[in-house]
Amino acid sequence: MKIPLFDMTRQYNAIREEVIKTLDGIFKSGKVILGPNVKSLEEELSEYTGTKYAIGVANGSDALFLSVKALNIKNGDYIITTPYTFFATASCITRNGANPIFVDIEEKYYNMNLDDVEKILKTHPEKDKIKAIIPVHLFGKTIDLDRLQYFKEKYGVYIIEDGAQSIGSKWNDKKGFSVGDLSITSFFPTKNLGGYGDGGMVFTNDEELANRVRKLRIHGASKKYYHDEVGFNSRLDEVQAAILKIKLKHLDEFIEKRINIAKNYDNLFKKYSLIEFIDYPEVFEDKSHVYHQYVITLKKGNRDELRKFLTEKGIGTSIYYPKGLHQQKCFEYLGYKKGDFPITEKATKTTLALPIFPELHFEEQEYIVKSIGEYYKK
Ligand SMILES: Cc1ncc(COP(=O)(O)O)c(C=O)c1O
Repeated sequence: MKIPLFDMTRQYNAIREEVIKTLDGIFKSGKVILGPNVKSLEEELSEYTGTKYAIGVANGSDALFLSVKALNIKNGDYIITTPYTFFATASCITRNGANPIFVDIEEKYYNMNLDDVEKILKTHPEKDKIKAIIPVHLFGKTIDLDRLQYFKEKYGVYIIEDGAQSIGSKWNDKKGFSVGDLSITSFFPTKNLGGYGDGGMVFTNDEELANRVRKLRIHGASKKYYHDEVGFNSRLDEVQAAILKIKLKHLDEFIEKRINIAKNYDNLFKKYSLIEFIDYPEVFEDKSHVYHQYVITLKKGNRDELRKFLTEKGIGTSIYYPKGLHQQKCFEYLGYKKGDFPITEKATKTTLALPIFPELHFEEQEYIVKSIGEYYKK
């Protein structure tokens, strides 16, 4: 059997005709930059997320960068974030001249440890320069939004929710992106709402911030050729927006399928008595986890050996992430060292992402879990 980590071709078959017809319409109209599809996707996603404003940009990395910029965060300021995430979560801080303060994660779900965040907010020697927190809803698991709301109110920091992996997720009665002064998502093809290329979006309830981001994405211009400030070229592509509009109609169904797949994995690990070897992210029925990734943690055995074994069996896996951001060469100047974030460092060696996408078949999942069993019982 051949099972990729992610397969976008299966989904394409279901929406192919609609995509081709829509693209044909765009090409015939000649409106290919910031046309009606970007506008209506923004409206639909602001409704879907329950935020007032949504601004389409070129990718999730830019969405983060422009969010930090819109808050006027600059040289010498600090932003608290996690070292266990995709690079862009931290590079958006340094690209704006500010410094990240990393905080270790919690086991099992790998989100930032909010007790540690609060310690830093209280005790950091330059705490007045801590302007924001960028929490990541990693793998699709929502971080505690009530606690973030409390940090905002008590410590006067901005929150930028990095929801690149979590569109559609919730925390109790709060929707993702409801606490962030700005929140972002990514439409990278593998994401739960993924395009056929790059794309991203910024969400906010603040009109001024929305206008600022809208301006920054078109060279800081409030009117064509009239530049209030130096901005960037970071527009969501019209073609991507049109495709995303088609996929958005299915997003809730895609998420339901991911949750079911995760539930199946959980049950299969029990059925094949693998709980003593691996740990897995338990399923929540309330969409507090939308399973962008299904990541297991090895309690025994060697992660890289298991990965190789599964590759030989035709099973695609991935490592998110093989190195903490505090240990990246480009961030050496921040002064962090090995051992600073033990849970992150352990996770970089013990976690493995298994195939998950809405069209994955149950038989394929059974084959994957049986194969993991073979590795342990050989
Ligand atoms: C947590 C996180 N933040 C930011 C990004 C950046 O998104 P993009 O790849 O669209 O630039 C990603 C996507 O890879 C991500 O996973």
